Parts: sequence; structure tokens; C-alpha cells
Amino acid sequence: MDLTKPVLGIESSCDETAAAVLAPDGRILSELVLSQIADHAPWGGVVPEIAARAHLAALPQLVAEALRQAGLGYADLGAIAATAGPGLIGGLLVGTGFAKGAAIASGKPYLAINHLEAHALTARLPGLSGAQPEFPYLLLLLSGGHSQCVVVEGVGRYHKLGSTLDDAVGEAFDKTAKLLGLPYPGGPSLEALAREGNATAYPLPRPLLHRAGCDFSFSGLKTAVAQLVAAQGVGALPRQLAADVAASFQAAVTDILADRLENAFLARPDASAVIIAGGVASNTAIRTRLDAVCAARGKTLIAPPLRLCTDNAVMVAWAGIERLNAGLTDPLTAPCKPRWPLESL
Ligand code: KG4
Ligand code: ZN
Repeated sequence: MDLTKPVLGIESSCDETAAAVLAPDGRILSELVLSQIADHAPWGGVVPEIAARAHLAALPQLVAEALRQAGLGYADLGAIAATAGPGLIGGLLVGTGFAKGAAIASGKPYLAINHLEAHALTARLPGLSGAQPEFPYLLLLLSGGHSQCVVVEGVGRYHKLGSTLDDAVGEAFDKTAKLLGLPYPGGPSLEALAREGNATAYPLPRPLLHRAGCDFSFSGLKTAVAQLVAAQGVGALPRQLAADVAASFQAAVTDILADRLENAFLARPDASAVIIAGGVASNTAIRTRLDAVCAARGKTLIAPPLRLCTDNAVMVAWAGIERLNAGLTDPLTAPCKPRWPLESL
């Protein structure tokens, strides 16, 4: 195990194919992401088979280009890290299979990275947020597949405070956007439409608000929107009405997330900071509100730039470096795990 050499990271757990090379101190030597959004858009969501085939077609050239941009060959690497779960099994097999093959051919150690751990440790990427946050800190993961609030106690040490009881928050954005006739992925288009709307126009439900704990629930909110839209009859919604629903929906989600974060601080007053991750963390209304919740308690909100909030390979390589520094590597027999809770690490 050589801790003085760069690490290659590979991400292929959902609909982004990504490769990155990081120096051992966390400097980004190269980073590339290929989004498959255009491949999945006609279907209104991610199709696992299409995703796996697209990863297979793109990954070899993408990794070659990441190494070329870093000015390195496999012989210069200290290790090869790939997301091994949780995620879609086809994509995971492509990414880890490629990484294992490269590890065998080059004689380098292999690292099987938990995707959620990679989001969590992004907070410690040097240069991201002034000083590195002290453990413990909180992770609020807000993506299309996950809604979780986790205490990051240390590398490899996580404690889940809560997660969604039904839909993920990004899923709620996507389903609501679909009801409003907006294109996939719904989050960004719903946020844009919400800017034209009145957030107090419709008093939508806020499931679990003011209840103890950090679990989330969004399906009741989505159902309320569906009923509201159905009551308007057939045909396209008038634009102002759709904008008012979008703004009211976004306000409800924002209230829920702020309330859950307040409960997380009650549960763990020792947490020094919060890192947000996932596509929904790019939402300006949500970022602003969570920032205010943190500021009121003297805590720091670490909101990485969008490219490091959403799925990327920089976080995979960085998690690899953190694990190498903790003396950890994985055998080539390490399996892919479509379900892989953080607490089981
Ligand atoms: O983390 P991510 O890129 O991918 C995975 O879930 O794997 O998250 C995508 C989700 C989608 O549901 C998308 O609609 C949502 O994040 N999203 C947003 C925004 N941008 C993306 N939701 C709300 N507001 C946004 N600006
Ligand atoms: Zn992710």
C-alpha cells in the first residue's frame, strides 16, 4: 500500500459515469462526468438496463481520458477505487469489474467504496470549506434515490438518525413536476417555475413536521398535489396555477427539511457542521433555509459546489484516500451491494 501516490476513482452506481484522479493530499488532478439524462429522459426516469449498457460503453474511454488529463499511467497510481454500492447492480458491476481488472493488471490495491460514505466524506476534501470539519458532523443526503440524516463519527463510523419512510425527496420533486407537466428530471424545472409562484397559495401538508426524530415522509405531500391537480379537470394547467403549486410544494419540502435538521441538532448538539449532498441540495430555497437553521445554532453548513453535491468520482477517489490512510483496502472478491447501509460499514 503506497500512500504517496494518486488514487483513481470510478462512479457508476446510477445514471452518471464518472472518473477522477486525486493526489494523496486531495488535490484534484482530473475529473470527468458523463450524464445519461438524455438516454433516460424519454422514459421519464432511470432505466437500469439502459444505465448499465451506457456505463459499459463510456467507462473505458472516460478512465483513459481522466488518466491522460492527470498526466499519469496505471503504474503511477497508489490504488483504484470504485463505488460498490448502494445503487443499481448493473452499473455497479461495470464500475467495480473495470476497477478490479485494472487493479489486477497493474498490481495496485482495490477499494470498494460505499457511495453514501463518499458523499459523507466530501466535507473533508481539502479546500472545500475553509478548515476541515471536526468529527462528528452531520450528513443530510437529499437525492433522487436517498433521503437520510446521518452522523459522521469518523471514517467508516456512521450513525443514521433518520431516513425516508416512503419517497426520496428528489423522487417527490420528480413526481410532482410530472403532475405539473414539467420535463424530467423534475427538480430543476420545478424550482425554476416556483420562482414565478406564490408559496402561500396552497397550504399543502407537511408530514412529520414537529414530530420527534429525523425521519422524512413525502408521499402524502405528493398525493395532495395530485388531488389538487385532478380537481382542476383535464387539460394543461394554467401557468400561474402550476407556478403557485410548485412554489407551495417547494415551501412544504423546505419546512420539512428545516424541521428535521433542527431535530438532528437536538439529537447531536456536539455536531460541528452539516454537509448537504445529492441533487436536491442544489435547490437555492432549500440551501438558503438550511443555512439559516445552521447559522442560528452557530453551526456551519457545508454546501459543496453542485458538481461535488451530485454523483461524481472525486468523492469516490477521496473516500478511497481516506480509507487507505485508515489502513483499509478490499479483496478482489469484495461483492457489489445494491443495498449497503452506512451503519453496516
Ligand atoms: O444526486 P442526484 O443527481 O442523483 C441521484 O439521485 O442519484 O439527484 C437527482 C435528483 C432528482 O430527483 C432531481 O429532480 C433532483 O435531484 N434535483 C433537484 C434540483 N436539481 C436536481 N430537486 C430540487 N431542486 C433542484 N434544483
Ligand atoms: Zn449520490
